[in-house]
Amino acid sequence: MVFPRVCAARRLGRAVARGLSLPEPSRPRLCSSGPRGARDEAPEARAYFTTPIFYVNAAPHIGHLYSALLADALCRHRRLRAPGAAAAAAATRFSTGTDEHGLKIQQAAAAAGLPPAELCDRVSAQFRRLFRDAGVSSTDFIRTTEARHRAAVQHFWAALRARGLLYKGLYEGWYCASDECFLPEAKVSRQPGPSGAPCPVSAESGHPVCWTKEENYIFRLSRFREPLQRWLRDNPQAITPEPFRRTVLQWLEEDLPDLSVSRKSSHLHWGIPVPGDDSQTIYVWLDALVNYLTVVGYPGAEFKSWWPTTSHVIGKDILKFHAIYWPALLLGAGLSPPHRIYVHSHWTVRGQKMSKSLGNVVDPSSCLDRYTVDGFRYFLLRQGVPNWDCDYYEEKVVKLLDSELADALGGLLNRCTAQRMNPSGTYPAFCATCFPREPGLAGPSARAGAEDYALVSAVAALPRQVADHYADFQIYKALEAVSSCVRQTNGFVQRHAPWKLSWESPVDAPWLGTVLHVALECLRIFGTLLQPVTPSLADKLLSRLGVSATERGLGELAFLPRFYGHPCPFEGRKLGPETGLLFPRLDQSRACLVKAHRT
Ligand code: MSP
Repeated sequence: MVFPRVCAARRLGRAVARGLSLPEPSRPRLCSSGPRGARDEAPEARAYFTTPIFYVNAAPHIGHLYSALLADALCRHRRLRAPGAAAAAAATRFSTGTDEHGLKIQQAAAAAGLPPAELCDRVSAQFRRLFRDAGVSSTDFIRTTEARHRAAVQHFWAALRARGLLYKGLYEGWYCASDECFLPEAKVSRQPGPSGAPCPVSAESGHPVCWTKEENYIFRLSRFREPLQRWLRDNPQAITPEPFRRTVLQWLEEDLPDLSVSRKSSHLHWGIPVPGDDSQTIYVWLDALVNYLTVVGYPGAEFKSWWPTTSHVIGKDILKFHAIYWPALLLGAGLSPPHRIYVHSHWTVRGQKMSKSLGNVVDPSSCLDRYTVDGFRYFLLRQGVPNWDCDYYEEKVVKLLDSELADALGGLLNRCTAQRMNPSGTYPAFCATCFPREPGLAGPSARAGAEDYALVSAVAALPRQVADHYADFQIYKALEAVSSCVRQTNGFVQRHAPWKLSWESPVDAPWLGTVLHVALECLRIFGTLLQPVTPSLADKLLSRLGVSATERGLGELAFLPRFYGHPCPFEGRKLGPETGLLFPRLDQSRACLVKAHRT
């Protein structure tokens, strides 16, 4: 799938080997040349990103934070592509929030001995606090218990009814309150319950199910099989990564029965009543999905300018709700399906599913305290692979952050800016005769070798590569690519050992300046590209390099312009103030803590 990009990299390599000049990097990528050749949206167009809204039956865990961080990184990357910060802010919207109705919350409140509204207030506030602390840059936070949402859901319901898509009928089947869904017999298995007797559970989630037989309102989902298949055929990027799109297409080959969209109010009172029929409460998934419309002002006119640009980030467990029920409901209400659905897998803990009953739930707030906000954001997004589940354990966090952020990136910055190495505290000048664009025509003062040209071509290609990975929802690959270039840059510095060169020597000085200039240019690219994932650390890095706030967008990102014969705005500029280590090693801070504790 990555073949075209591999070819491009090989072509560059061959050009270097033949002594040809390196092609100037194309302008930072504003459109995708992804594997399917599809084009991404123009950077000035609007974009609306959403996280799932989170159940308030229990406190947030790292899986919830991961969902929110993926959406945050996508949204921040998108804002970087837009031409100015103000324009970017106006053109992007990013919502998150809490899912507060339904049997699951009703039962959790009863178990906690609290009125449901009080449980919702408490846990919703915990999510809000966590996301604020983790730097989730959402523009909207919605709670489904808000009046604006109730109005939107009831309007949506009326739109479905007006189109003849709701009818009353007897609905019978297994219901899983934990997952808030009906299940066919084939999806139910038996597991020994607390007394040892076999109890029916959802085969997928393992949660208990109950037999339910009720008269409900039913949505004519079965009518939407073909329109959904057409939507997915016509929009091959609608669901990313691709294996999840195939799963949905497979589901659409199977039985697609109509869907119960209400419950008896006597059974479920904690929800939004069906308009005109108080004896029924609207099904919590219909209620929850409409949050995406409520946020952008549905049913007011404003929502229409945001709706077609919607990108949902979701976990794989809620794929069916977002990729089948939701697009069908939208089509039913006369609206278009979401623009894109980005799907991720789950975090396990030491090989086990995270659950309250196993007592292995990882508290994200303590992780932010322990590893820093940027450190933990980096860990989750660098190690989280959307296509597969990932396993969490502490040693892995420490090892990754120490090696990639503290040693490789922090060490590189420190080496190139330290007073000893760079006594003038400036962005040194690049010498084109030491590092000529055309290695084959190099004169006697040329000092750069083949590996140095390979570094320049790798870093020049990096912004585009990163953008492609974002478009494919492979943020971990974007970070892997940055990390690999950081390693290459360290190799470059190591190879040329600038500490052995002297500013006093007329022979050494131009080359010494060039080595530092190239390394600082690489660092500027890394800092700019890391902003969506580690915003404070990237700010610290870019500030140290003297890069101003208006020079941090992807549109301004011309790498090593002096190499291509253009002026460099940074050359000769004073570096920013020294503000300490970029990312202190965790194992050392731990050791210090232990020592301080002992003394
Ligand atoms: N309330 C519904 C979503 C309604 S959206 C209209 C819901 N809530 S949830 O709190 O259970 O899950 C919210 C998100 O967290 C989902 O994307 C889910 O996949 C994600 N995660 C829950 N556990 C997770 C892990 N262990 N790992 C990664 N993400 C996980 O579903």
